[in-house]
Amino acid sequence: MLQMKLCGDPILRTQCTPVEKIDDGLLHTLDTMVEMMREQSGVGLAAPQVGITQRFLVMMTPDDEKIFKMINPRILSHSEKTVVMEEGCLSVLGGDNLPVYANVTRPESVVVEWTDENGKQLSAEMSGVPARIVQHETDHLDGKLFIDYLSGARREMVMRKVRRHKK
Ligand code: NI
Repeated sequence: MLQMKLCGDPILRTQCTPVEKIDDGLLHTLDTMVEMMREQSGVGLAAPQVGITQRFLVMMTPDDEKIFKMINPRILSHSEKTVVMEEGCLSVLGGDNLPVYANVTRPESVVVEWTDENGKQLSAEMSGVPARIVQHETDHLDGKLFIDYLSGARREMVMRKVRRHKK
């Protein structure tokens, strides 16, 4: 049973290690993560969010509801152009147990490569919302959260709403 990790849990700040072998355990975990993402109406979920410090994630592109299972994803390049978009995270919840949202500035488009669940090497240029999701999720694999991009008063305002993981 995988458990959702919340902001304040050190596992969310861990640098994840590359996946070396795609086995049944990993495939099962990826399927479970897709279910968890759907149940919570999310569009992405990264391994450390369910307590696994390895480099894989699942995401869904909202327009066509296409599911991606990315193993060892890597952002190869990004556009100079940036855009502001609202982000939330299933690990950053407010007192009402719903994600807390904030505007974050990131590159508008990225080129990403990954290995899929069949071991196939893939790459794609993503822009708009999919680019946003893949940047947010790959950040998780480096122990980074979207709130790290906020500064000063805005960060404080958001953090006041966040329900912290209790030890
Ligand atoms: Ni997140």
